[in-house]
Amino acid sequence: MEREILPATVSRASNTQSPNENESPSESVVKRRSFLKGLGVVGAALSTGSLLTTIAEAQGRNDIITVGDVAILRFLAAAEILETDLWQQYNEFGGIQDTEVPGGSGSRLYTLALQQLDGDMPQYIHDNTEDELTHEVFINAYLVSKGAEPVNLDQFRTLPSSQATGAQQIGRLTNLMQLSVDTSWWTRYRSRTGNPDLGDTFANAVPSIAMGQHPAIPRTDDDVQPDPSKPHHISDLTQAIANTAGFHFATIEQGGTSLYPKFAQRVTSLEVLRIVLSIGGTEISHFQTWHDKAGNAPHVSVVDPVTGLTVTFPDLNAPPFGGEDFQTNLIMPEPTAFLSRKLPACSIIRPTATKGAAMGALQALTADGLFIGQSKDFFKFMRTLAIEADLAVRQ
Ligand SMILES: [Fe+2]
Ligand SMILES: [Fe+2]
Repeated sequence: MEREILPATVSRASNTQSPNENESPSESVVKRRSFLKGLGVVGAALSTGSLLTTIAEAQGRNDIITVGDVAILRFLAAAEILETDLWQQYNEFGGIQDTEVPGGSGSRLYTLALQQLDGDMPQYIHDNTEDELTHEVFINAYLVSKGAEPVNLDQFRTLPSSQATGAQQIGRLTNLMQLSVDTSWWTRYRSRTGNPDLGDTFANAVPSIAMGQHPAIPRTDDDVQPDPSKPHHISDLTQAIANTAGFHFATIEQGGTSLYPKFAQRVTSLEVLRIVLSIGGTEISHFQTWHDKAGNAPHVSVVDPVTGLTVTFPDLNAPPFGGEDFQTNLIMPEPTAFLSRKLPACSIIRPTATKGAAMGALQALTADGLFIGQSKDFFKFMRTLAIEADLAVRQ
């Protein structure tokens, strides 16, 4: 279909008077309709005058950055710093420690246990860690380039490192040893009718790690003792810890997958929109990868000798699981209700409702157990960033 070039063909005058005074009103309507046909729904919904205004605004939006944009970017910078901190810990034990992602010396049996989910897990962990680091550094550098204050969380690096061999002994921002991993993203992305934006809730795929506090990295070397009775000498406890990590990877990245489109709806600058869309797409690619790997977690049930809790990773393809809600190869988002149940089902990221995006993310990370042991000042600092980001409106 041939499209008209708007700036050359639309003038403000054409909005207020008929192009041909001799035309009957009905002829004018027909012509106007055929003119708008080439513009699609957006063009048809706007008057010609507002189309011109929109184009002018769009050009201006490349140059400006609003207080709201800064607030959103500052919250995202903090979120990325937190992501880097947790991914760094995973990389020290189960990734690849190199010049791109230095630090740590690996944990052989934990890494082997992760590789039961996919032989390439160390590479993926390394790359996800490096990606988060670049997100953090880029967003802060962009803020500085616009004369805005970058985010620094160094004063809150107070949490202890794991005592297991492989970790650096440095202060951390996040705690990976007492997690309550929300695995409801599994059923949320498989549901063909439910959408959290429409008020629906979803069952956990692995209920036993959603309740209580569980390690996703070895706490001490006791967690990675060899068991000669098992394949590769990987104990059930070590496998359960690696499986917990495998699900937590996706839990974290599905959060980023939703957070960026939530914020995209409230940024003003087109350049900031470009940043949010471009980084947000990387979070989606992370989530998709981890979603696939989590389904390979070996079935295991073990009592954690430290917590006394039983951790069970069920066969999600067998009864009482299985079917559309649990089948492990359904890793692409099933089409579901979007915006209204009256509209046709659509394969989408969910949730994406923008209201309270930052506070929701902060609450989800907190409920995850990531900040167990953090100071009051840390929560105050993060809450302030979240409140400011949630006040941002598109201008
Ligand atoms: Fe990120
Ligand atoms: Fe991420």
